[in-house]
Amino acid sequence: MKDKIKVLFICLGNICRSPAAQGAFENLLKKRNLDHMFEVDSCGTSGYHDGELPDPRTRKVALQHGIQLTHKSRKLQSKDLHYFDYLIVMDNNNYNDVLSLTNDEALINKIYKFGKFRSDKGPDIVPDPYYGSEKDFEKVQELVENCSIGFLDYLGV
Ligand code: 4NP
Repeated sequence: MKDKIKVLFICLGNICRSPAAQGAFENLLKKRNLDHMFEVDSCGTSGYHDGELPDPRTRKVALQHGIQLTHKSRKLQSKDLHYFDYLIVMDNNNYNDVLSLTNDEALINKIYKFGKFRSDKGPDIVPDPYYGSEKDFEKVQELVENCSIGFLDYLGV
């Protein structure tokens, strides 16, 4: 049996963007009957919200898109860089925070910006909605669904 493809979505607090990305990607995998091929998780570069469910605004918008989020926030650990095959960050701060944990080129090469997989020509980041409006959360939801499709296409599975 083939090894699962291990994907870790990473943002700052692990209560808005990365759990939304995890939920959207898992939902897409289920729809395409590919969930058995993947192990998916998310985390934050900070431990600010350790153990918390996603932000109520993130959960509300995800639910409107048919996705229930039950992940509990956790902080990124050095061992995650070894364990996961794809370290998918949401913005440049996340990218630099993950980068600061290693000098190993093999690990650095696992870091991707999720926005790189979007289908339009917009910026390659998923913007932080935490201090924004409900509209910003809706935009994040739409973007992570769009990037999930692009990422799966990239993987070619
Ligand atoms: P996230 O959003 O990184 O997408 O989960 C944030 C959540 C919390 C904070 C900042 C961003 N915070 O400062 O507590």
